Amino acid sequence: MEPVVLSLGGSVLITDGDDVAYIRDLSKMLVEVSESRKVMVVTGGGRIARHYIRSARELGASEDVLDEMGIAVTRLNARLLALALGDRASQTIPEDYDEAVSAAGSHSVVVMGGVAPGITTDAVSATLAERAGARLLVNATSVDGAYTSDPRKDSAAKRIPEMSHEALVKLVAGTPAGAGPNVVFDPTGARVAERSNITLAIVDGRRLENLRSALLGQDFDGTTVH
Ligand code: UTP
Repeated sequence: MEPVVLSLGGSVLITDGDDVAYIRDLSKMLVEVSESRKVMVVTGGGRIARHYIRSARELGASEDVLDEMGIAVTRLNARLLALALGDRASQTIPEDYDEAVSAAGSHSVVVMGGVAPGITTDAVSATLAERAGARLLVNATSVDGAYTSDPRKDSAAKRIPEMSHEALVKLVAGTPAGAGPNVVFDPTGARVAERSNITLAIVDGRRLENLRSALLGQDFDGTTVH
């Protein structure tokens, strides 16, 4: 079965709203998609990770310790989603790519978090796509695609429906890899997708119908990078 990798932003999974209802609906949709594709999800850390990182930094922790705390939160989010998915998903959260691929051999959905300090879950998802031989990577995030400039700061910003890998790499260049800024896709992940020619779909993760279309390789609202 053809694999598809989903990078699920922590800010999509955990908000101030009714996350349980969202997680239930998301799980139902992922189970449906898993009838025709092997679904491999990488969950981000969102504001809970940022809270721990900020507090631990003030307490004097080194950067790699901050990353370990971030990774722990991404794995906690993975557990929450795996719980909602029930026995379709491996309840043991893979801690590296080999474990994820091996879990995919016995489960239709696999959920994991981060793997190593110095990167983010976007980069993990791109490397997982390489390892699993996925041709499609979907980034479910809190914005509805890549824009010509930051739409929160620039009212003239326009959504880019389609772009090349090279253009995405240029767009996100200069944003620091690792330390958690709000970038549409992490620069390391963008380069990994480019080198292996993995199609990247960038979508609003809260619009589940649209996210389902993206996961199934159908038309969707957002940005396609290929
Ligand atoms: P995220 O992937 O959620 O990063 O991991 P992010 O870009 O900060 O989050 P969003 O997308 O803006 O919400 C959270 C933190 O966990 C650590 C990093 O410190 C990262 O900022 N992390 C995560 C790692 O060090 N390695 C990993 O493999 C994953």
